[in-house]
Amino acid sequence: MAGELEMSREQMLDFGRKALDLVVERIESLPGENAWEGEFRKVLAEQLLEDPPEEGRPGDEVMERVVRDVLPLTVRLDHPRCFGFVPSAPAWPAVVADFLAAGWNVNQCTWLVASGPSQLELVVIDWFRRWLGYPEGAGGLFTSGGSAASVDAFVAARDAAGHPERATVYMSDQSHSALVRAAVIVGVRRECIRMIPSDADFRLDMDALARAVADDRAAGFTPVAVAANAGTVGTGAIDPLEAMAGFCAAEGLWLHVDAAYGGFAAVTERGRRLLRGIERADSIGLDAHKWFFQPYEAGCLLVKDESALRDAFAVRPDILQDTVWGANHPNFSDLGLQLSRSARALKVWMSVQTFGMARFRRAVANGMELAARAEGHVRASPVLEAMSAATLGIVCFRVNPADSELDEAALEEVNRAVLARMFWDDPAFMSSTLLHGTFALRMCILNDATTWDDVRETLEAVEKFGKEALSKTEAPE
Ligand SMILES: Cc1ncc(COP(=O)(O)O)c(C=O)c1O
Repeated sequence: MAGELEMSREQMLDFGRKALDLVVERIESLPGENAWEGEFRKVLAEQLLEDPPEEGRPGDEVMERVVRDVLPLTVRLDHPRCFGFVPSAPAWPAVVADFLAAGWNVNQCTWLVASGPSQLELVVIDWFRRWLGYPEGAGGLFTSGGSAASVDAFVAARDAAGHPERATVYMSDQSHSALVRAAVIVGVRRECIRMIPSDADFRLDMDALARAVADDRAAGFTPVAVAANAGTVGTGAIDPLEAMAGFCAAEGLWLHVDAAYGGFAAVTERGRRLLRGIERADSIGLDAHKWFFQPYEAGCLLVKDESALRDAFAVRPDILQDTVWGANHPNFSDLGLQLSRSARALKVWMSVQTFGMARFRRAVANGMELAARAEGHVRASPVLEAMSAATLGIVCFRVNPADSELDEAALEEVNRAVLARMFWDDPAFMSSTLLHGTFALRMCILNDATTWDDVRETLEAVEKFGKEALSKTEAPE
């Protein structure tokens, strides 16, 4: 063999087949596993902290070690009972597509370097554009995720506003931390990031937004952008998109919609209705690695006027002079923060081609239907209290029987205890949040393999642990 790092054909096939067997085995055994497994750093450091070996070991041994000691120690985000944070259940053709892209060693930076994958990215971006109701002329690119999409969007917004000195941006107090971080990255001072209060339904308060913008203008700041939520990560709430679009148009502000979590609901009838107005935004961020069944990383930014992105990002270095094929042959590296990029559109394209949109639509709808049923179960439960309506695939609730006399602090203690029991004593994985300061249990249901039994049995476990925790807690005198 010529290269130091090459393997023979037989070795490559053996190694690859072994990996394939292990991955398929893992996926098949998922429902019988717990949705979470983890270990403390001290234990893991003892197992793994070592110098790199000077001489290699048989690849089989290396793979077995990683599959035994490393990879299982995660939240199994694709487990049918994984309801914590934002789960992700990749479609198999998409997983294989990532392998193909790595095998073909695609660098999806410029047309010259990757014309086939670039054309495919144009195709998939155009699918997304149409699903969201954006006009022709809109465009965008795949990103690592919603965080990177938010950064790219704020760069475009800041440049479109002429990069003012005292820039302010606005978002609801339910917005994802990625939006705050994106604003910081583009140079908005932390004290100039306005967190606008949300209403009882966790939707941005329009009056408060209008007041904040007016106050800032009066104080000599330059309002630049407003970020709306199309599915907050806490409750799935959708901000008043139509009203925000009207306001931003009147005020000359860039409207970015963070649809990282909820955007793909648009492929369903119900989702399209809920997201009405999103098509009026200047930019939209969405994550195919959340509710569109793709492995990490598969974020995306769409911009209504693609030239805004190009104006903000395009740089022409001498070393890349050969890559300029003209406006008709876009270099995706001119639209965002990455030069070297993986071929992320490939996995979306392959999975949609393989299953077809009808199946994807039903897969997305499954999450919404189960979340609505979960809310019904919660509202009918003598032990649980609903804390948010199931707008998309999220339902928030807590243990709080109608006749409970516990104060808020005691209720929080009970619910924290229930979450801990779920964590250690139940196969499902759930997480919690604070809703306007109140501790809430939260189920995010996105996996198309999740059944009503998975959801019901998880809620029943919460009820059982809830009753046990309540019986141990003294009501205040
Ligand atoms: C609503 C929302 N926005 C942004 C993000 C950040 O996206 P990513 O983790 O893909 O960078 C998330 C992640 O959960 C999210 O739910």
